[in-house]
Amino acid sequence: MPANQPPVDPAIRLQLLDLLAGFLRTQALHTVAVLGIADIVGDEPVTVEQLAAQVQADPSSLHRVLRVLAGSGVFSEAAPGAFVSTPLSGGLRTDAPLSVRHMAMFQGSDTYLAAGQMLRAVQTGEPTAEMVFGMSFFEHLASDPDRNACFNQAMAGGAGARAAAARDFDWNRVSVVADIGGGNGSVLVGVLGAHEHLSGVVFDQPHVVTAAQPVIEAAGLTERCAVAGGDFFTDELPAADVYVMAQILHDWDDERSLTILRNCRRSIAPDGRLLLLEQVMPDGDTPSYAKLLDLIMLVLLGGKERTESEWRALLAEGGFELLEITPRPATNLIEAAPA
Ligand SMILES: C[S@@+](CC[C@H](N)C(=O)[O-])C[C@H]1O[C@@H](n2cnc3c(N)ncnc32)[C@H](O)[C@@H]1O
Repeated sequence: MPANQPPVDPAIRLQLLDLLAGFLRTQALHTVAVLGIADIVGDEPVTVEQLAAQVQADPSSLHRVLRVLAGSGVFSEAAPGAFVSTPLSGGLRTDAPLSVRHMAMFQGSDTYLAAGQMLRAVQTGEPTAEMVFGMSFFEHLASDPDRNACFNQAMAGGAGARAAAARDFDWNRVSVVADIGGGNGSVLVGVLGAHEHLSGVVFDQPHVVTAAQPVIEAAGLTERCAVAGGDFFTDELPAADVYVMAQILHDWDDERSLTILRNCRRSIAPDGRLLLLEQVMPDGDTPSYAKLLDLIMLVLLGGKERTESEWRALLAEGGFELLEITPRPATNLIEAAPA
């Protein structure tokens, strides 16, 4: 190690200290999301005392959290101790389509605990969920209906963007589409709602697909959309012309992903299509949310985000040819055909 290093520039110190405080922003967002503060704060200033009374919190502590968030544009302190909404705080409203509220609730609790052991994941190459929860991540979700519901709502918050990307596929020659690992059905409902000639099936774990029925009913799609409970590693998948898998393969390492892909390959129509809605990891230093999501996969599941060439190779090994990748807001439409 070279001797006589120059002292760290104070500006660099401050920059690093600010980066280090990222965990506090996560917890501030988590706190206001759990308390539902964004549902209360609107265009008219509301005081921290009024807010605290409504959500049963301590006014002074709530103020300290809100002013940190306001520094990042989440809420604005319009007058001392009184806050108004901003576009970013609006994204935390429960009733906003594409809401991030449940994701903030989830990331600040379960993901946060697993990420707290990231060092162990890096040392061992294993996800930390087992160590933190005493079981795998999906078993942990299954063990508590409230936690499972929160995760499903967190996923459904982003499903609108994935459904929008899937809607753009040319569905003209398709009759039946199956959403494998379709969660509460939000992605498939978005596709079927836009293409009246399609019928579909949501396939997910039995305790998860129960949440799809009300979503399908609310969209008036009971005639065209079925649900099927099962395990995509071991069970035969519903027959379909097109399989959609939205944020499924990023949950799993290559070996587990290949098991799922080969299962799809066995049941898909010979001229069918596989549509993945996933991140494509950019090369180099380009800042990208995919790189952060990749770390969530590392700690929760041992999964990963993949580069274009990694997607191509994985699909080929699983019996599919990658045809096209279309970048879409917040996701990519990856189209593949049976090879
Ligand atoms: C990251 S979520 C994606 C949900 C949905 N596709 C979306 O885009 O919002 C992963 C989904 O995989 C499902 N899943 C996990 N293990 C499964 C298994 N063995 N068989 C079937 N589904 C499974 C989970 O229940 C969950 O709904």
